[in-house]
Amino acid sequence: MKNKDFLVENKVLVVDDDQVTRVILCQILEKEGYQVFEAGDGTQALALFKRLKPAVVIIDAMLPVMDGFTVCARLCELSGGRIPVLMLTSLNDEESVKLALQAGAADFSTKPVNGPVLCRRVERLLRSRKIEFLLKKSRASKQSLIINVPDGIIGVNKYGLIESFNPAAERVFGYSYAEAVGQSVRKMLPDAFREQEQVFIEHPGIENKMFNSEREGTGWRKDGSNFPVAIKISGFCAGDRLVIVRDITERKLAEDNLRLTARVFESVSEGIIVVDSAGNIQTVNAAAVSITGYRKEELVGRHYSFLKVILNDSSSAENILSGVRKNHYWQGRVWSRRKDGGVYPVWLSISAVRNETIRNTYAVIFRDITEQVRWEAEKQKLAEQAARVQRINSMGNASASIAHEINQPLNSIKVIADSVLYWYKKGQVNEVAPLIESFQKITDQAGRISSIIKNIRNFVSAGSAGRQEPCNLNNSVSRALAILDHRFREHGIKIKKSLTWNLPPVLGNQSMFEEIILNLLANAVQALDVSSRDDKIINCVTRQEEEKILLEITDNGTGLDNGMIDKIFDPFFTTKTAGKGMGLGLAIVHSGVSVCNGKITAENNHQGGATFKLEFPVANESAWKK
Ligand SMILES: Nc1ncnc2c1ncn2[C@@H]1O[C@H](COP(=O)(O)OP(=O)(O)OP(=O)(O)O)[C@@H](O)[C@H]1O
Ligand SMILES: [Mg+2]
Repeated sequence: MKNKDFLVENKVLVVDDDQVTRVILCQILEKEGYQVFEAGDGTQALALFKRLKPAVVIIDAMLPVMDGFTVCARLCELSGGRIPVLMLTSLNDEESVKLALQAGAADFSTKPVNGPVLCRRVERLLRSRKIEFLLKKSRASKQSLIINVPDGIIGVNKYGLIESFNPAAERVFGYSYAEAVGQSVRKMLPDAFREQEQVFIEHPGIENKMFNSEREGTGWRKDGSNFPVAIKISGFCAGDRLVIVRDITERKLAEDNLRLTARVFESVSEGIIVVDSAGNIQTVNAAAVSITGYRKEELVGRHYSFLKVILNDSSSAENILSGVRKNHYWQGRVWSRRKDGGVYPVWLSISAVRNETIRNTYAVIFRDITEQVRWEAEKQKLAEQAARVQRINSMGNASASIAHEINQPLNSIKVIADSVLYWYKKGQVNEVAPLIESFQKITDQAGRISSIIKNIRNFVSAGSAGRQEPCNLNNSVSRALAILDHRFREHGIKIKKSLTWNLPPVLGNQSMFEEIILNLLANAVQALDVSSRDDKIINCVTRQEEEKILLEITDNGTGLDNGMIDKIFDPFFTTKTAGKGMGLGLAIVHSGVSVCNGKITAENNHQGGATFKLEFPVANESAWKK
């Protein structure tokens, strides 16, 4: 059978009341490869048709009961006209042919049947059915394509009026199909046809020439807003045209972002070298070129190991690169070498850049910090100078204070000794008792000098750490209170203490803590001495707050005068009269607290006195056992 593959299927239904004709038809058609079914009357034909769905039906026009034309009409009704019917009519029976075509038959053949003619007609019927089917399919898919494509598709006639407008165009422009059709396309795409019109003006008489153009332009929505579009136009210069429009707002934004990023990349003052996944320098920015002194072509394409040439010290360069390979990150201050050999400090940071598409790409960012280093050196020099001046000043102050402190007892010693000598020369030293009294005064004054020297020694040594061990602050408080117990009694001072039981240790030196507390208590006693109140109280509190131990010593004495709090920890700052205080107590306290990594602050309290708050870190067992 010819063109078999072209057939949708090969079922043929033969409807004839004459059995002999049916047999002949079956033989002819089966020889051609068709699968033939027979029906003897209209009712049978309709039943078989429903069941078998044949590709072609051959019907004899002259059937009993239900004639062939009626059967044909019913079949066409049943299949919606999709099944081709071939009517067999009597020779030269024009009326039958007319009736057959009216009933919906696709073709007719005359009786008696000519085998080859019948086969060609059946074959032709099937082929035209197939073509019709394919045409319908292609029309449907074209239609669905136009409906579903994301691009707007607008059909425009030769007057520039819209004739078709797909759903994407409705979405893009905000007009419905009904609103858009009949409108001028220029309302939505004012600049779309500029080139076409130009060509048309320059070459009149080419209206019927095909024209294709692609451009970007501006689209105008129904609400008056506009947006960037890509426009493709194809059709005749001055005839029907198809316009395909794509909203490119997002693409434009992405391009703008890229342009901005590129501008930032080129304009930052930091040098940037990008190393690709193959380990080659992919790109460098203008700052990298100006900082290193290498031209862009000398850097791009080089293996990243070229960075060793740029870094001054090849061993540290190796460390940095292996650090980056391991941790994908490195940053720090290094020395770098320009192409001309000049060495300069840079702040360098190398980090892996990763996203879905980029793998193992590294960004090397560096900044020439010559100025910063110079400025830091200058600052350091100035700070050293200031410290030296400060030291000289404090030495001056210290020696003046020491001289002043020592001068007093020294003068007393001289006066007493001179008077003893005077009376001795006059021969009036007859008794031992006044002599002993004078000598006692001399030793008292010498004792004062030695206590001044001891204070100074304490001050100097308080700044050195010595051996540190875990100490219990409660013990230090109790011992200091015990030492001063008789003084508290003599001065009518009541001691309150609130020491937290089981206090964790702090790292330091027990005698240093005692010294600190003794000084604070001594100051409190002195402040209470000058106070006229009856209820003189000193309160000692210890407690733990998170990883810190707090010690508070509070009195209800005179308190600290305004503006004094900033100065009280300075060495030799005192408000006491000569011989009563040297201004070293709190300086010793401050140094001792700092040595133990602690902090001390002073403030006035609600009882009118002063509160000194000290805090120390809880001793970390592993740290002090080392
Ligand atoms: N509890 C306190 N109440 C009021 N003022 C205080 C108290 N403690 C310290 N001060 C003030 O701070 C100053 C400095 O104290 P610091 O202990 O350093 O020196 P000082 O007591 O004057 O002399 P030194 O301790 O050397 O004998 C004191 O002169 C005093 O004015
Ligand atoms: Mg003091």
